[in-house]
Amino acid sequence: MLPQKMRLRYYPDPVLRQRAEAIESIDDAVRQGARAMLRIMYDHGGIGLAGPQVGWSKRIFVANLAGAADKPEEELVFINPVVTAPGEEAVLEEGCLSFPDVRIEIVRADRVHIAALNLAGERFEMDASEMLARCVQHEVDHLDGILFISRISLAARMAIRGKLKDLERKYKESKEAG
Ligand code: NI
Repeated sequence: MLPQKMRLRYYPDPVLRQRAEAIESIDDAVRQGARAMLRIMYDHGGIGLAGPQVGWSKRIFVANLAGAADKPEEELVFINPVVTAPGEEAVLEEGCLSFPDVRIEIVRADRVHIAALNLAGERFEMDASEMLARCVQHEVDHLDGILFISRISLAARMAIRGKLKDLERKYKESKEAG
């Protein structure tokens, strides 16, 4: 069920546009996958990473707002998350590990409620605000195959067109190189 080799997937890899499937049972393979995701997230200096971003099209994401492997107490793993957004709209600049060097302002709720399973298979719920609310919404979008560039205006997209073209070219080259 885990991809053979987990590695960071970059735009426009088609796996990023797929809707991820629910995780049916939380077993050692899932725990191993979550550890691998955290490792990849730390290696790339991220604070959140979703399954599809490592080619694992399952409804799981990891986060650590400290962004540091030496702060494991800050690690969060969300499996089959369900998010409701009771908050007001807020604008904040976001990045995404699948889009190196792209920073764009995105409108999202400033607070969310999230229910999910943890790696022990236990259900938990939490209210999130600020960076965590932002991160949760960005990562849940990944599980639905929605990329942050789909949430900006055409004008904002034009402004990053060069960077997207570069990523498209790199992806094509990596495909051709096998
Ligand atoms: Ni992202």
